[in-house]
Amino acid sequence: MTLFDRALFADRVCLVTGGGSGIGAEIALQFARHGARVAVLGRSAAKLDTTVRALEAEGAQGLALAADVRDAHALEAAVAHITQHWGRLDVLVNAAAGNFLSPAATLSANGFRTVIDIDLCGTFNACRAAYAALAARRGVIVNITASPQGFVAMPLQCHAGAAKAGIEKLTRDLALEWGPAGVRVVAVAPGPIANTEGMSRLAPGDAAETMQQKMPLGRWGRSDEVASAVMYLASPAAGFITGTTLTVDGGAGLLGAGCFLAALNL
Ligand code: NAP
Ligand code: COA
Repeated sequence: MTLFDRALFADRVCLVTGGGSGIGAEIALQFARHGARVAVLGRSAAKLDTTVRALEAEGAQGLALAADVRDAHALEAAVAHITQHWGRLDVLVNAAAGNFLSPAATLSANGFRTVIDIDLCGTFNACRAAYAALAARRGVIVNITASPQGFVAMPLQCHAGAAKAGIEKLTRDLALEWGPAGVRVVAVAPGPIANTEGMSRLAPGDAAETMQQKMPLGRWGRSDEVASAVMYLASPAAGFITGTTLTVDGGAGLLGAGCFLAALNL
């Protein structure tokens, strides 16, 4: 089932960082199902190849680009590869991220920096690398943040929370600077999403069931529900929307850190 025209992104070219798995892979698949050619970028070539095979099974064109978002030059090379291969870039989705539960008191400097480097610096690197190509197409950037980590105080995730809050601010700043060039910059903040690496790390074992019971909507979300929000924001229907975040969290953020505190017995 889709509310979107199957040709919504016909001829468009999308790049999804973190597109080798989880929410990023679902976003890539949904763009492909709606006509786009999609490049996916991540460190693991095997994961990227799996996504590309899924795109091709839908009759779409896919491209696997093995790179680390912490490497700005690799991002520039990836964008150059896309524009040489397909002649354009219309949509960038930044979904690559890393996270784990750790008390701040024992988190090493390198552990904190690593997550900031991947999530926040990696998002900037991709935005910066894609800017000229996106400006040529009046394109769109959709940054994936997180609810409620990006907005409220949370236990055991100061690294990811700081990174996601930074991406929220970066989204607004880039929207301001790049709006005159026709580039819209928006964010989508998912809440807990089922069957993802993220939630297997953040709600291990029994915590998953407890957290789902605490959710205002009584369940975790699905990756396709996040992808639908991303596609809406990337579409012409959202042509006057920039510098804002669409929260897709089943109401989790209404509880502050409540879902996580209860689930982790904190
Ligand atoms: P995931 O499957 O682990 O997706 C993260 C992706 O990022 C992986 O494909 C990973 O591939 C890639 N990645 C990690 N480090 C990278 C690096 N240095 N360079 C390039 N790629 C890198 O996790 P997910 O749960 O679906 O999360 C996807 C996004 O949604 C993240 O931004 C996350 O913060 C956000 N989010 C998730 C949830 C949730 O409930 N799961 C909730 C809120 C927000 P490689 O390891 O191969 O590089
Ligand atoms: N608790 C505390 N510290 C941790 C940790 C954990 N669970 N996992 C990693 N770290 C620390 C390491 O100890 C290291 O610090 P040190 O050098 O002081 O010991 C630092 O983080 C970097 O770890 P490393 O494994 O070298 O980083 P990496 O670049 O290979 O991997 C991660 C990045 C750690 C974020 C890894 O979990 C990852 O690749 N995640 C991607 C998938 C993911 O997180 N998906 C969910 C998205 S929400």
